[in-house]
Amino acid sequence: MELPIYLDYNATTPTDPRVVEAMLPYFTEIYGNAASRNHSFGWNAEKAVSSARDMLGSLIGTSGKEIVFTSGATESNNIAILGVAEFHRDKGRHIISSPIEHKAVIDPYHYLEQQGYDVTFLDVNQHGCISLEQLEQAIRPDTILVSLMGGNNEIGTVNPLEEIGRITRKHGVLFHTDATQAYGKIPLDVERMNIDLLSMSAHKMYGPKGIGALYVRRKKPRVRLSPIVFGGGHERGMRSGTLNVTGIVGFGKAAELCAEEMASEAERLIGLRQRLYEKLTVELDYVFLNGHPTDRLPNNLNLSFGYVEGESLIMGIGDIAVSSGSACTSASLEPSYVLRSLGVGDDLAHSSIRFGFGRFTTVEEIDYTAEQVSSAVKRLREMSPLYEMVLEGIDLSTVQWASH
Ligand SMILES: Cc1ncc(COP(=O)(O)O)c(C=O)c1O
Repeated sequence: MELPIYLDYNATTPTDPRVVEAMLPYFTEIYGNAASRNHSFGWNAEKAVSSARDMLGSLIGTSGKEIVFTSGATESNNIAILGVAEFHRDKGRHIISSPIEHKAVIDPYHYLEQQGYDVTFLDVNQHGCISLEQLEQAIRPDTILVSLMGGNNEIGTVNPLEEIGRITRKHGVLFHTDATQAYGKIPLDVERMNIDLLSMSAHKMYGPKGIGALYVRRKKPRVRLSPIVFGGGHERGMRSGTLNVTGIVGFGKAAELCAEEMASEAERLIGLRQRLYEKLTVELDYVFLNGHPTDRLPNNLNLSFGYVEGESLIMGIGDIAVSSGSACTSASLEPSYVLRSLGVGDDLAHSSIRFGFGRFTTVEEIDYTAEQVSSAVKRLREMSPLYEMVLEGIDLSTVQWASH
């Protein structure tokens, strides 16, 4: 086993060597511009793009014709939200979403709100789940879009896409899902789920960084949106710019591998997740699971460790790469807005760690991580007066602190 151990697969994944191998000829041999119609360099590049497109589409039950290539899911989300909002501005200016979406969804809403649009953020419960009744009640005659993510990048909770799609279709409202974390990991089907727009990104599924895609439904209904980048009219006019052929080839290969391995890999990852959770909860008390216990991405485990501080814990497990629930900036130590929306208190939000597993994670690495985390938490708690009080049987909620 090599150190450090990478357990941050929700942030990004290593590019699979098979993906790199598939990409290599497109740097040096088949380097044509896929839009060049007059020679074989262009045709060969276009052929590779077309088969990658089909591969990407097939993973969500559609054809390549409905795939628009972008630079990543941030851009896909921006095109979907801003593009639909702009095109349908005369029809309505109301959008429905949730407060635990990725910033690449939330920030376009803030821009739209400044432009006079109205965004309803549905409530989420302690597991990060929305209420379908509340969703249906929130739909108004001027609602133009519902955008709810596939799987949450911090806490792993998966949305009931099929049930959401049933409601949006019934009311004739477009449905966008940011499936960046879910695509290639769990089964998705745009027909069965009535999804109209779906964002994806290669670097979360063992493809290269800087390439993504947006599925845009072509019929029943035909989704119309305004571009946010103008130029040569590539990608059906929805995203101009010379195609990143090498990236696209890698994305296609990554999708092919996910399609082949998805079912067995999901099962293996759930096993690793369960193993880490059980080992930690046997060794430690006051460990809290963030996100839904079962409706969650196979590769995500988010835990809060009572009476320790996340950043100290991360430093205490120096050779394991994970993320914490507090975004540490020089000015502030702000706890995660996702955990806050779930009602997790600031102390437990600060003590949260996101473990992200993936294709190259081994049982040995999980066991090592369990040992390292357990001993680091115990060490930190030995220095915690609060934990000592709890052990003495004092209920901290009843303590009258001197400054109160
Ligand atoms: C749910 C979700 N949406 C969007 C993004 C942004 O994707 P990209 O890095 O491809 O722009 C990420 C990645 O952090 C994500 O996890």
